[in-house]
Parts: sequence; C-alpha cells; structure tokens
Amino acid sequence: MKQIVVSGIRSTGRLHLGNYLGALRNFVQMQREYNCFFFIADLHSLTTHPTAADLHGSVRAVMAEYLAAGLDPKQCTLYVQSDVPETTELYLLLNMNAYLGELQRCTSFKDKIRKQPNNINAGLLTYPTLMAADILIHRANLVPVGKDQEQHLEMTRTFGLRFNRMYGTELFPEPQAYNPQSPLVKIPGLDGTGKMGKSEGNALYLSDSPEDIRKKVMRAVSDNTPKAPNEPKSEPVQNLFALLRAVSSSDTVEFFEDQYQACTIRYGDMKKQLAEDIIALTTPLREKIEMYLADDRLLSDVAAMGAEAARKSAKETLRLAKEAMGIRKL
Ligand code: TRP
Repeated sequence: MKQIVVSGIRSTGRLHLGNYLGALRNFVQMQREYNCFFFIADLHSLTTHPTAADLHGSVRAVMAEYLAAGLDPKQCTLYVQSDVPETTELYLLLNMNAYLGELQRCTSFKDKIRKQPNNINAGLLTYPTLMAADILIHRANLVPVGKDQEQHLEMTRTFGLRFNRMYGTELFPEPQAYNPQSPLVKIPGLDGTGKMGKSEGNALYLSDSPEDIRKKVMRAVSDNTPKAPNEPKSEPVQNLFALLRAVSSSDTVEFFEDQYQACTIRYGDMKKQLAEDIIALTTPLREKIEMYLADDRLLSDVAAMGAEAARKSAKETLRLAKEAMGIRKL
C-alpha cells in the first residue's frame, strides 16, 4: 500500500515563487510515488473575511496554478476543501476534544490576534482543528509543509492520538512532516529580510509579467560591494544569492560568488541575470495559468473529479470515527 500524503494551500491570492519552489514543485514530485491528496483550503481563508468574489476568484486561480505547476488530476486527488463536507463534520467531532487552553497557546493564533484584534473569531481559534480534520480525514502518513506549520502538525497528532485513546481505536495514524528536498530550500523575499510571503509585500508571483519581475528584482534590497576578500555576506546579499541558487544554473551562481570574493561584484548585473532566470522559469508557468484560467469547463471538471475521489476516502474515515464515538443509526 502506498503511503498517504495530504497537503493544502490557503486560497488567499495568487501563488508566489516561494510557494512554487518550496511546496508545489515537491507536490509534483510526490504525486508519482504516493497516494496524494492536494487541496485548496478555502474554508481556512474565511477566517480573514474575504469578499465572496475574492474567495471564489482565489480558488479558481489556485486551481489553475496547481495544474500549471504540473499537478495531474490523473495522478493525484486535487480538490477544493469545501467540496468535501466530511472534513467539516470531522472538524466538529474533533472540536469536542480540543481544549481552549491548547488552542489559545498556538503560535499562529497568537500572531493572528495581534494582527487582527477586531476579528478574533472562533474559526481562527479552531484553525488547527480544521487543519487536523483535513489531514486525519484521509488518515495521512505524510504532510509536506514548511517549518511554520510544524506546530499545527503536532496538534494534529495530539488530536488524532487523543481520539484513538478516548474511543479505544487505532483509526488515526500519526502524520509526519515530510520534505523531499534536503536541505530545505528557503525562498527569501526581495526586501532584504525574511522569507517570501503574500502578506509581506515582498513576493514575486507566478503570474507576474516579465516587466513586473524585472522591476521588482531591480528594486530588491542589496548592499555595498564588499571591501575585503571573504567578507561575510549581509542578509540582503545572502538573500539575493539564495534566490540565484534557487533559479539559476550552478555556473551562474559560481560566477557571481567569484566576483563577490574578488570584491568586483556589481549587484545591478547580478539582479539583471536573476530577473532573466526567474522569467525563464515562470514564463511557461504563467502561460499555462492563463490557459487554464480561460477554461472554466476544465476547472470545474477537475474539481468535480477531485471532490468525488476525496469524498470516497473521507466517507470511510468519517463512518469509522462516528462508529467509534457511538454515533449510530437507531
Ligand atoms: N495551514 C496551512 C498553511 O497556512 C494550510 C493548510 C490547511 C494545510 N490545511 C492543511 C496544510 C492540511 C497541510 C495539510 O500553509
């Protein structure tokens, strides 16, 4: 039996280069080896109150981007979270054994209440239970996620084990974080510090035009040319090199590394090269995204097919969970 993989991306706008290099590219690789369920976490994005039009538009866009990146609905199960009501039912059941204290201690919850003090809704508090339901509903073994999701995954294991213990079952396996890339690639943003993120305003989107990419990359924070050989790189410079390593050939990386060591590097030249290499990587993706976005019929067929396969797996888990809890027909 193939191991079961589950992962989701929240539909809060377009996907960026960090999503692609850090997550999507791994998904594409994993779909051949594992029994994969990849979904668009539209219910999770409701915690920040998008408009109806924005929510729907983002779900379509992420679906088109998943397909453009190479996820193949014949090889994996590709679906929209809200198309699988079994997930939300399991979420309710898990909430009965999720304690206020542990939910309040969750780092992402604490961050959110700082960022949106006027919208501390119950969905935010129980975000980890919904994520646990996403994973446990397919009884996943592996969850490809970044470091920022480790605490959520730990809570998923806690909820699953607690369920098993309380109801005397072995229904839920313990899902492990999984990343086929080692070492883990970190894709920094263009503002000199931190990783690329949608909300940080430092991202390059897969759908950005070549002109957008050139403009953004040329504006990226760099630094002065080093004055002495082997001078340690400042964070903005390290970040530019990290991007270069992620998208350019090893010859190119070596060329600029040598120039850095020789103190002759011109960051303008390096950024020009970086922009062109990013454009070479994203252009075919952008063209495919546009093609899929223009094909409503295909998007809805893919979603329908994915929902059917996901529900088949989800129904069986939910049936067993309810039976364990004593929810039975009279
Ligand atoms: N919380 C994840 C994120 O913000 C998205 C997500 C929701 C997810 N449900 C999941 C990831 C289940 C993996 C598995 O990135």
